[in-house]
Amino acid sequence: MANKINVLKGTKDILPQDIEMWHFVEENALKVFSSFGVKEIRTPIIESTDLFQRGVGETTDIVNKEMYTFEKSERSITLRPENTAGVVRSYIENGMHRLPAPVKLWYKGPMFRYERPQAGRQRQFHQVGVEMFGVAQPAADAEIILMAENFLKSIGLDELDVEINSLGCPKCRAQFKENLKNVIRPYLNDLCEDCQSRFEKNPLRLLDCKVPTCQEIFAKPEIQEVITSNFLCEECTQHYEQLKNYLNELNVKYSENKHLVRGLDYYTRTVFEIKSNNLGSQNAVCGGGRYDNLVEELGGESTPAIGFAMGMERLISLLKEKEPSKIDGFVVSNNTTEALKLAQELRLQGFNIEIDLSNKKFTKQLEKASKVANFALILGEDEINNNKVSVKNLVTGEQVTVDKGNIRQSLMV
Ligand code: HAM
Repeated sequence: MANKINVLKGTKDILPQDIEMWHFVEENALKVFSSFGVKEIRTPIIESTDLFQRGVGETTDIVNKEMYTFEKSERSITLRPENTAGVVRSYIENGMHRLPAPVKLWYKGPMFRYERPQAGRQRQFHQVGVEMFGVAQPAADAEIILMAENFLKSIGLDELDVEINSLGCPKCRAQFKENLKNVIRPYLNDLCEDCQSRFEKNPLRLLDCKVPTCQEIFAKPEIQEVITSNFLCEECTQHYEQLKNYLNELNVKYSENKHLVRGLDYYTRTVFEIKSNNLGSQNAVCGGGRYDNLVEELGGESTPAIGFAMGMERLISLLKEKEPSKIDGFVVSNNTTEALKLAQELRLQGFNIEIDLSNKKFTKQLEKASKVANFALILGEDEINNNKVSVKNLVTGEQVTVDKGNIRQSLMV
């Protein structure tokens, strides 16, 4: 026998027994996002590598360590590790700034990050996300968080924790970064390797380091004093306060987390995450925030924007398993031609119908019908001769014989 070929590490098949959960999540995404006037966009899975280098940022783990990048015809191409940069590229390239603001787009699909696989973390995973362009006011931030929450509630997830923070604008953040570096510098040699290498280029990321020895250092009073200080300028403070007012008015429960900094470089002002207690260490189901400079940085006109993305595998792992749904009818007959014809007629009327294709014994066919269908449509010799069908309700056991033309009513109950 030839060697078996297995699925790649960090990737998974989504099998037929699980697909209904995916459909359920995707259908609710369409419904809830449409209720906010958001339209779906589908961008390519491959993009120019520069898009992510410039968009996501050279100092991030995603760009430094995790991208699937390859050369083709002397171009460097990358499998998208996230989709904000791709949607921004499309927004600019398709002149969407000319549309009335806000332009609201949602997407779903696979993303690729070369990370160490573990529970809740894959190398190919799926996101559903929303991006909103053209509104700087905090009402957009409130609406985006509300949209994330409405969607999560629509799929039955209402016990999740919303955390928010403001990273300020590049101006007020610069001073904060300096203050942070100054208090942390004396402990630099005691920090983990990642923190040491991030210290100069991206000191904010130190705040979400999970290594216990680093956390101990960051808990020191003089460091906490800087972390918890209000470094936001007047405008950023007002923006953040107004967002909190809106969330309070909307009864969105949230907590503020000064350590919430997010792992992508493009954020300005509001950042947020939605977390679950039931997911172990990879507990974020949703991450998002404002990125007011990204459109301009990627060659478009200066346009404020905000969005979020959710990991679909993580969402689905939190949902209760569903019984796979059954088809409407299974034709039970030893006359394959008549069975094929009846099934086709009913499918054209909108029913989901299967038949036995290998002429098994009647009893075997009935057994199969009771596993997969709500009704058995029995076509014995008598029925065929009289142009009738016996319709057996496989839940109640009730059976009626009806004219072929009248099956519709019997299947509708
Ligand atoms: P992110 O925090 O990198 O943000 O990813 C968003 C969500 O995707 C995470 O909260 C998590 O649920 C899921 N996720 C990320 N990596 C993995 C993985 N390796 N395996 C399984 N699930 C994963 C972004 O991607 C931003 N583009 C979000 C955004 C949109 N910000 C503004 N607009």
